[in-house]
Amino acid sequence: MAGARGLAGDLLGRRGARWLHTEGVARRATEAAPTVDAHDRPLLVAAAWLHDIGYADPLRRSTFHPLDGAWHLSDHHWPTLVAGLVAHHSAARFVAAVRGLAPYMHRYDDRRFTTGSLADALTYADQTTGPTGEEMDAEDRMADMLRRHGSDSPNARAHELRAPVIRAAVQRTRQRLDRPGPDAPTALGVPR
Ligand SMILES: [Fe+2]
Repeated sequence: MAGARGLAGDLLGRRGARWLHTEGVARRATEAAPTVDAHDRPLLVAAAWLHDIGYADPLRRSTFHPLDGAWHLSDHHWPTLVAGLVAHHSAARFVAAVRGLAPYMHRYDDRRFTTGSLADALTYADQTTGPTGEEMDAEDRMADMLRRHGSDSPNARAHELRAPVIRAAVQRTRQRLDRPGPDAPTALGVPR
């Protein structure tokens, strides 16, 4: 989707760890794109570019980056699906609840933002990409996140409920990637 990479670059700056992470997540989302419906693939990749824009200083309102990013996208008339995926990426709702921000998440109250192949693929892309864009095992990524945020952080307090949801999304996406899709060649070399 045109403009997502450019907007992310303008807001986050095209250097440093945050940008490397964003590029890595976009790359992983592109790899995972075959797991979602063809018409949703550009939305998935756009959401990957935009998922962390809420960290940009000018966007700080709630100081919860999934919401700040989603609000900015909604204010600027991005598709609701992109804004909703950003609001809910990596099971953000559990951290929102710990932070007392759950009421603000109701604006993005659609099952597609939390459930199904699209939401799974975005969480997969984020949770298998390290802080500087490197490919990373989801368990290592979560352990690193807990170390960085601290044992008393909202992320740590949400972890018990959030981690299984992240794990399941990553696992389902891997299974979908392993499963040959309708365009995959068969043993006879012709698409099924
Ligand atoms: Fe991220």
